[in-house]
Amino acid sequence: MGWNDWNTFNCEVSEDLIEETTDVIVSSGLKAAGYEYVNIDDCWMAPQRDAAGNLRADPVKFPGGIKAIADYVHAKGLKLGIYQSASTHTCKGLPGSLGFESQDARSFAAWDVDFLKYDNCWHTQGVAARQRFTAMRDALRATGRPIVYSMSNYGLDGVTSWGPSTGHMWRTEHDILLDWKSVLSNYRSNVVLPSIAGPGGWNDPDMLQVGRGLTYEQDKSHFSLWAQMAAPLMAGNDLREASAQTLSVLGNRKVIAVDQDPLGRQGVRIASTGGLDVLAKPLADGDVSVVLFNSTDSPARISTTAARAGLPAAASYVLEDLWADTTRTSSGTISADVPPHGVVMYRVSAAVPSTVTLAAGGSGTLWSRTGTFATGSYGDGWSRAGGPEFTRLTSTGTGRTVRYYGVAGGRVFGQDLDTTTGAWSGWQELPGNATGVRDIAAARVGNVVHLQIAGWDGSMWTQTGDYDTGRFNENWTMVESAGRSDLTALTSVASGTLVRVYGVAYGRVYGQDLDTLTGAWSGWHELPGGATGVKDIAASLVGTTVHLQIIGGDRALWTQIGDYNAGRFDPAWTRVGGSGLDRLTSTAQGTSVHVYAVTTTRGVGHARLDTGTGTWSAWQTLTGEDVALFDLTASTTADERATPSVP
Ligand code: GLA
Repeated sequence: MGWNDWNTFNCEVSEDLIEETTDVIVSSGLKAAGYEYVNIDDCWMAPQRDAAGNLRADPVKFPGGIKAIADYVHAKGLKLGIYQSASTHTCKGLPGSLGFESQDARSFAAWDVDFLKYDNCWHTQGVAARQRFTAMRDALRATGRPIVYSMSNYGLDGVTSWGPSTGHMWRTEHDILLDWKSVLSNYRSNVVLPSIAGPGGWNDPDMLQVGRGLTYEQDKSHFSLWAQMAAPLMAGNDLREASAQTLSVLGNRKVIAVDQDPLGRQGVRIASTGGLDVLAKPLADGDVSVVLFNSTDSPARISTTAARAGLPAAASYVLEDLWADTTRTSSGTISADVPPHGVVMYRVSAAVPSTVTLAAGGSGTLWSRTGTFATGSYGDGWSRAGGPEFTRLTSTGTGRTVRYYGVAGGRVFGQDLDTTTGAWSGWQELPGNATGVRDIAAARVGNVVHLQIAGWDGSMWTQTGDYDTGRFNENWTMVESAGRSDLTALTSVASGTLVRVYGVAYGRVYGQDLDTLTGAWSGWHELPGGATGVKDIAASLVGTTVHLQIIGGDRALWTQIGDYNAGRFDPAWTRVGGSGLDRLTSTAQGTSVHVYAVTTTRGVGHARLDTGTGTWSAWQTLTGEDVALFDLTASTTADERATPSVP
């Protein structure tokens, strides 16, 4: 992923342009979204080699030389690309690399270049393309510097047979132009070649025309199709003047994640009738990305099924719309009304059966029971899981393992459950010697567990640990409380690199965020809705929506939803029901949230929310209660997942 100057600037390239664009890639957030290479195209060099036959940068356009530009780009955490041609001249008539492959490759390496686009103009020398492109591959290799090798010979000379063994990417068509027909033509040549693309070698339908004058629908389609075809995403617009809308297309991280998916499969066109195409791309986590593309001039309904897209059989599927940022469920049909020249792009996952594990502190020890997420039915009763009597519990899970953290006698302990075997690891006290702890919350970012406690002093203290090894730091660190030092309850959720923490202090609800990249906390701010007398709080994430639940002053369940990314919440709390509630936990899967509460009579009640329709089930009592409980935590783990078939 990156940017190339050619589409917009042709020969008007310069040091200033490259440096300014580099700055904008960083400041616009595109670098953070994955854009990495800043590529100089044709016309960067002086018309003559020097006396020793070395290439030189054009002294007017690049007065500091290419090495200085590379240093600038590297200092910003990006990489530099350059251009040459496998012939006597570049397309614009400057000195080509034919016969100078080793010498030029050594120059590129000496300048710390990271990427070479190798073109094919003026190929009139009677030397076969394969031989000319292989010569530069070998010359680049001989430098010892890792340089991405991008071959630009327009899909000609049988490049689809020798390209994968020669370069990292190869053009599959003639130059893309600022014209919808040209985008379509490059798409159509590229989409029929999925079998030759994969990690290390990619079909290249040419650079992006996004943000240069196509319509918004066309820009989204262009970007989606390129991502679905696992194509290099090389922006070609003037980024310094990109509109917010253009940046929202180029920066759509969910679409980028499809492009960059580690499985590295190019999407396959599984249907194409009357200008209506369906493409399916299997993803590393078992999901499948489905693009419904309407290339016609009229609106059209496009339909396929989860089975045809290669998903395993399942009772239901979750369809995440990657442009509308909404999620819905389907029993198997994948269908949408698609505007002319538009796409609808879904990330589809099979809603595999899931198990909920409830763990509760009470009656002398920890108790647990499992249930089925889909039906909300939970075995016969609690079984003894051992350990001390916990007054506060939290958990965070991934795959088959759930890590539990609890407060007993005011101190903090942790242990793990292998949900496949049902085996508990045994409790261990966490380092840091916390005492008098009031509540605990945990959220996972990658393999780092972020623990938060409401300490003896009512402040929030934190500690991080390694999810895989279960090892924690030696100490708790206090987060500046700015007067909010009466915390009685905490909960947290994580997504991306952000942890959002919600707490109850003085009976009111506050939130603050941790940027795990910088380690900076935002400081507490009170949530809207003016809740008072709050007893406990829980949070679950569904897509990009935070579902907050509280036990209000009336000991009933109240909820509020917020936008995870913006951190914005609804202005009011909504009362769901229940009575005599004391402690709360929640867990989400697909589009459902399950909420459980311990009551003041030490039993358990629960209710379920269908986030698609916004409806809550009636408040129910969990049967089989023969122990008196203080607190509980719920976690959901997916049962064994079927492998998707290849479409
Ligand atoms: C060819 C390539 C373009 C661009 C120009 C530069 O046309 O296909 O992408 O590099 O040369 O002259």
